[in-house]
Amino acid sequence: MSSIQTQFLDLTAHHARYDAIDPKAGLKGSATDKVVFIAGASRGIGQATAVAFAEAGARAVYITARSEDALKETQTLVRQANAETQCAYAVCDVTSAEQVEAAVADCVATFGGIDVADANAGYLAPWMKIGETDPENWWRSWKVNVRGAYHVIRFTLPHPIEPAAKRAAQGSSGGHLIVLSSIGAQLLMPGASDYQTSKHAINRLCEFVQSDHDEDGISASPSIRVASPPIWG
Ligand SMILES: NC(=O)c1ccc[n+]([C@@H]2O[C@H](COP(=O)([O-])OP(=O)(O)OC[C@H]3O[C@@H](n4cnc5c(N)ncnc54)[C@H](OP(=O)(O)O)[C@@H]3O)[C@@H](O)[C@H]2O)c1
Repeated sequence: MSSIQTQFLDLTAHHARYDAIDPKAGLKGSATDKVVFIAGASRGIGQATAVAFAEAGARAVYITARSEDALKETQTLVRQANAETQCAYAVCDVTSAEQVEAAVADCVATFGGIDVADANAGYLAPWMKIGETDPENWWRSWKVNVRGAYHVIRFTLPHPIEPAAKRAAQGSSGGHLIVLSSIGAQLLMPGASDYQTSKHAINRLCEFVQSDHDEDGISASPSIRVASPPIWG
């Protein structure tokens, strides 16, 4: 085991949903009136994020992924979390610019805009030494994690700009872009070259969104998560 793996394995995970970060407590009402677009919301973190935004009072949550049955499950969970939060979905592969553009257009037509966009869809391939990887599979990580995130950013970003400017004038927060990165972006885990380089690129992309659109009232955050059970992502 490398020293880097040892360092990572020694991290302590905290799971408590304390008041300040609980959408049913400290964050309740923080998403009031907001329309949230989430890519990759059929399961896992994306599904939990959709439910959390509903709990925090979002006006609408628009969810996308490739699996329609699983999206319907997320839709049910959102409605159970908050009967007043509207929820619609689109079957959409983030690697297709046309599909992402169409889903964003449908969200705007249905709910009147987008205040928060979450590029959560991601792919983690089995870990392998670079010299043993299948080129298509190696590139798939970049296709989903970088190209997919770029598509979500590219097509959602124009929409929060108008409400962000209005909110900023009233002294409240503007549009927000969340991009799911990983602690792996900063690590060098043997066998994880495709995933960890793709997440490193995502962090840089977020910095460019911030520098290109700061004056438009957009704030962009790369979100890092260590899951339980961990996938060492
Ligand atoms: N879980 C962790 O420990 C961890 C740690 C650090 C970072 N992350 C990052 O957090 C994000 C979510 O992770 P997760 O553990 O919740 O993953 P997950 O359970 O595998 O879910 C991935 C989501 O992305 C969607 N997706 C995958 N490929 C897609 C594509 N081509 N087009 C559209 N949607 C696609 C999946 O839906 P469909 O299959 O239905 O399309 C699913 O909704 C990922 O970006 C991941 O890299 C996770």
